[in-house]
Amino acid sequence: MKTKPLTRKKEFGDFQTPLELSSLMVNVINENNIYPNVIIEPTCGVGNVLLTAYDFFRPQKAIGIEINNTYCKNILKKSDRDIFIVNSDIFVSMNILKKEISDKDVCLFIGNPPWVTNSELSSIESTNIPQKSNIKNLRGIEAITGKSNFDITEYIIIKLIEEFNKQKSIFAFLCKTSVARNILKYCWNNNIYYHEASIFPVDSKKYFDAAVDACYFVIDTTKKRGAGECKVFDSIEKRNYKSTIGFYQNRMIVNMDTFKSHNYLGKSDYTWRNGIKHDCSKVMELDIIGSSLVNGYGETVNIENDLLYPLLKSSDIANVTIKTRKKVLVTQKKIGEETKYIQSKYPKTWQYLNDHANDFVKRKSSIYKNKPSFSIFSIGDYSFYPFKIAISGLYKKINFKMIYPIDEKPVMVDDTCNFISCKNESEAHIIFSLLTDEKTRLFLESIIFWDSKRPITTEILNSIDLKKIAGENYLHDHYSILMGYNQIIHKENLIQEELF
Ligand SMILES: C[S@@+](CC[C@H](N)C(=O)[O-])C[C@H]1O[C@@H](n2cnc3c(N)ncnc32)[C@H](O)[C@@H]1O
Repeated sequence: MKTKPLTRKKEFGDFQTPLELSSLMVNVINENNIYPNVIIEPTCGVGNVLLTAYDFFRPQKAIGIEINNTYCKNILKKSDRDIFIVNSDIFVSMNILKKEISDKDVCLFIGNPPWVTNSELSSIESTNIPQKSNIKNLRGIEAITGKSNFDITEYIIIKLIEEFNKQKSIFAFLCKTSVARNILKYCWNNNIYYHEASIFPVDSKKYFDAAVDACYFVIDTTKKRGAGECKVFDSIEKRNYKSTIGFYQNRMIVNMDTFKSHNYLGKSDYTWRNGIKHDCSKVMELDIIGSSLVNGYGETVNIENDLLYPLLKSSDIANVTIKTRKKVLVTQKKIGEETKYIQSKYPKTWQYLNDHANDFVKRKSSIYKNKPSFSIFSIGDYSFYPFKIAISGLYKKINFKMIYPIDEKPVMVDDTCNFISCKNESEAHIIFSLLTDEKTRLFLESIIFWDSKRPITTEILNSIDLKKIAGENYLHDHYSILMGYNQIIHKENLIQEELF
């Protein structure tokens, strides 16, 4: 069956680099005083990058690999340059490259491989993925990146680095910024030493009409020493230095300079958690409309008040003043709790849940399998503490919010938010003042990658050493008293749990 043109374009990442951008890529290499005698373009397309680099550096040898036969023919037709064009699949062509390169060569691997992930390719049943014979290496990348879904560009660049980093090689590719970071992690985790690495942001809308966080990533292994860092510039056009990405205790640091002066990396004494998770918002979340409650199906819901709690979502927390627009039905006090008690205690709620039982059955996530009916997640005694400090995981801004109880009921936050909870108001105020301190902001700015889908995670928040920040703010004694008090409460809770 013939694939549709659009799908084919996506499948092969067929977005040719414009000449203007090709020249900028070559300029960057030239500014770094790199003079390659071999140039290799692993997916050379119509040849814009390859020919621009060739014309500039006039290398002894230039090789372009491209899967599309028409593109290969066109390059050969339009150019009388001494370039070796191989009409082949890069996934099976590494050996050709190995034969062409000697240890003495200074090799520039340059280009723009397809920006497509292996799961996008499997969804269109594409065969443009690494061959089965490479499956071991594929797994290797999975193990390193911690994910089974990775970008084909990531695979190609890592394969090239693996094969050719021992030589004097420079790897210079357009890719997603997240791919560049994954490759850095790969190098750091696998003791691949390099001289310098740089990221130059690229306006993907301007050059490719795409909405992707993209960059020109250059990693120079011509010398095997360096700080193991990566310089980040403002753009490929201006090339002003902005900051340095580094690696510290197995963690990637966005801005090493800020981090060094604001290193509050440690373990939070308070546990940050995600908000309540139910995957059934049409039934569980009710809009407050006047004095009525209306569910996602537009039905007015008339149930007992006891299991209903005020709910805040990311968009509510981002607002300057917090206003609750919704309530959430909380069916359990802890994970796995039996929900049959609702039937006798709250018959209207039970009826309502059963009227919509199908919505719960349809929940895809395996976490709900073999659990009591109408189960929820991310719930525990901490959810019912009166005071919370919350922050949206999705918004690209550090914006902690104090959340007070409403009508003597604790407020819940949804699963797009992260929160900690406090038993009393003064405790919440002290912790809030530490979290909103400039020191904390600078520390967080130095470790948060804002271009991630969910930039603020519980993992990041749980790494804030509040005790250290309290110490530097002369609040050490206050903080110690709080911790002592919390330990007593914690012990009391344990004793209570043992008794019942
Ligand atoms: C994003 S385009 C870039 C082309 C060229 N590098 C440039 O910068 O102008 C990606 C190119 O990779 C080619 N390609 C895709 N899969 C390939 C593979 N497995 N082996 C070789 N080339 C491939 C596509 O045909 C396409 O021309």
